[in-house]
Amino acid sequence: MAAMDATSGYDRMKELKEFDESKMGVKGLSDSGITSIPRFFVHPPETLSDFKKSSSTCTNIPIIDLSGIINSKDNDHRLKIVEQVKEAAKTWGFFQVINHGVPISVLDETIHAIRAFHDQPHEVKAKFYKRENELGGVMYTSNNDLYRAKSAAWHDSLQAWTGPEPLKVADLPEICRNEVVAWDKSATEVAETVMELLCEGLGLEAGKFKELTFLDARVLVGHCYPYCPQPDLTVGITSHTDPGVITVLLQNHVPGLQVEHGDEWVNVKPVPGGLIINAGDFLQIISNGEYKSVQHRVLANSYKEARISIVIFFNLSKWKGDGYYGPLPELLSPKKPAIYRNFTSQEFFENFYGKGIDTKSLIEKIKIQN
Ligand code: OGA
Ligand code: NI
Repeated sequence: MAAMDATSGYDRMKELKEFDESKMGVKGLSDSGITSIPRFFVHPPETLSDFKKSSSTCTNIPIIDLSGIINSKDNDHRLKIVEQVKEAAKTWGFFQVINHGVPISVLDETIHAIRAFHDQPHEVKAKFYKRENELGGVMYTSNNDLYRAKSAAWHDSLQAWTGPEPLKVADLPEICRNEVVAWDKSATEVAETVMELLCEGLGLEAGKFKELTFLDARVLVGHCYPYCPQPDLTVGITSHTDPGVITVLLQNHVPGLQVEHGDEWVNVKPVPGGLIINAGDFLQIISNGEYKSVQHRVLANSYKEARISIVIFFNLSKWKGDGYYGPLPELLSPKKPAIYRNFTSQEFFENFYGKGIDTKSLIEKIKIQN
């Protein structure tokens, strides 16, 4: 009886299950022409009033031009870019890169293919709908944390592990198969370039993160934020930080992403040809707090056109021999002692999968108190 609201007879669990079992996702609800959203999507007033706040002074996150970085020997230029990346990762935790070497046509094809997947009738998508995504697997779902979060959010996602186990390409929906494979390759190249710059910003060898397998365990998620008839009552994605090393995000022109900066929320304006990069909790920890993993969120989409974003989360594939990780020893000194303790892979994964995505980050748990 605990789940049943005694005063109204509202059985939240039953409603969640019905929605889940319908496999129609929020896109299906949106397409059905509903004018009011199911109650389990409605967020509490505190969340909603906070979602209404966005910065009027700050109009975008830093934009970093990577032209001249790839295959160039101009060291002065590289040092300048390293400085920009370092500064952005320290103060914002988020930046957009342009002239990253991936042709705009590839970006457009990727967005188009993910959109085409979500645009299919829900009966077609239903065969990919599930909740457990084993390593190497593919799943389509609405709200990864549907049963764990306090309130649901207005998005559906197609998710595929693209490493370290080779992706079973035939498992991908045919409508976006080639594009997902191609995007994983292109985004990984960009991530490698960015990780080299991040390494140099810490005074490490450029190839250090690659060597530590930080490019290897990858999850690609193609989100769809369809039109929401009551965008003031729910959210696109709850405020959270990403758990891994870095995230590469490609978005279409429909806005909605916001990043916390100081005590403000800054709208991330889509820039043509731009890719958004953000630091995850893992990077904040191993950089001993130098780079920041910051809260971000997505507003429920009030535009008729769906917002599409494709994220790839980069994680390490090999934990150290003794099964833990922590601030990189190279970065520590008597002047800069570790501010985080070491943690095990089990702690890392339990923290992520234990609750909703809004769960308190691992960072708070492993902070060394002075
Ligand atoms: C995420 C995320 C933002 C977006 O998937 O972790 O923050 O714009 N997505 O879809
Ligand atoms: Ni995120």
